[in-house]
Amino acid sequence: MTGPEPPLAVLAELTHRCPFSCPYCSNPLELERRGQELDTADWRRVLEEAAEIGVLQVHFSGGEPTARTDLEDLVEHAAGLGLYTNLITAGVLLDEARVGRLAAAGLDHVQLSIQDSEPAESDRIGGYAGGYQRKIEAAGWVRAAGLPLTVNAPMHRHNIARLDAIIDLAVGLGAERLEVAHVQYYGWGLKNRAALIPTRAQLERATEVVEAAIERLKGVLVFDYVVPDYYAHRPKACMGGWGRQFLNITPSGKVLPCHAAETIPGLEFERVTERGLAEIWENSAAFQRFRGTEWMPEPCASCERREIDWGGCRCQALAITGDAAQTDPACSLSPRHGELVALAEAESEREPPTFEYRRMTRKEPIEA
Ligand code: SF4
Ligand code: FES
Repeated sequence: MTGPEPPLAVLAELTHRCPFSCPYCSNPLELERRGQELDTADWRRVLEEAAEIGVLQVHFSGGEPTARTDLEDLVEHAAGLGLYTNLITAGVLLDEARVGRLAAAGLDHVQLSIQDSEPAESDRIGGYAGGYQRKIEAAGWVRAAGLPLTVNAPMHRHNIARLDAIIDLAVGLGAERLEVAHVQYYGWGLKNRAALIPTRAQLERATEVVEAAIERLKGVLVFDYVVPDYYAHRPKACMGGWGRQFLNITPSGKVLPCHAAETIPGLEFERVTERGLAEIWENSAAFQRFRGTEWMPEPCASCERREIDWGGCRCQALAITGDAAQTDPACSLSPRHGELVALAEAESEREPPTFEYRRMTRKEPIEA
């Protein structure tokens, strides 16, 4: 049997530290601590190994990756290896000089998260007073440094009514691309699902807003639109299929096929400090477990879409059915699809409970 194709991209979660506490964070509930983080030399070696196996892009993420003072060094190293470098940031730890240093280090692109178009609501959702204003400043520095900017706007029932204004905000910030990403329900998002999930009517209205804006803003703003699986007919190919295109490296160096893979019982994830990245990608049991189509149950096994969506999301199958090896219940062909829809309808119609904000179990210093 021939080995898998090389991964397209690495999501390098440099740290789980973050000044924000967004209740939909895709990080695990059990956050890794500063003392567990890989050091600069480890990350430099990981970047070299990634380039060697054919990775094309590295997304520096977190937590908040700018909390790491070696970010410029890592960006420069990645750029020197020929990797396309993207910074996924909340923006508030940046200043103008640092944005300039990152650009000079070879950073290719910045993706800035926005919680809302209303400053007070934005700060409430992110759990960070004054965050909105600092993000607006950060966007200005990014554009002034000549870096392309994508605004990432996670959507949920607390901001969905202001989608028009969020689109206007992205245009005003000089973004070239806007990701209107309905919250996906794993990590903290799953814990806060009842507080976040929109009604079907809200989702339909948001889709109309995006469709109209795509027409209106042709040549100005490019849209990425991610709909919530709970109202979908077919699932998305989560991560482009398990172990097919992406790998996630946690702050402590664990290599995962997706953000939420650690929720799946029985899988063991190897660390970049113990085994080479190529070996892990090609041979680790966790990456092999749901790679390709051989693991699939019916109806996926004989479905014509099995190499399009790869059976959907393993972590969602686990969260809803209790078994990661089931067809994703977001698929209407799944025997458990009705449960998912009933759950979405019931939760979205009720008064939302208060947020359980993302937090470390004990206070950690953010910057270092
Ligand atoms: Fe995708 Fe499986 Fe549904 Fe077919 S049955 S559309 S492969 S999730
Ligand atoms: Fe793990 Fe989708 S989040 S497979």
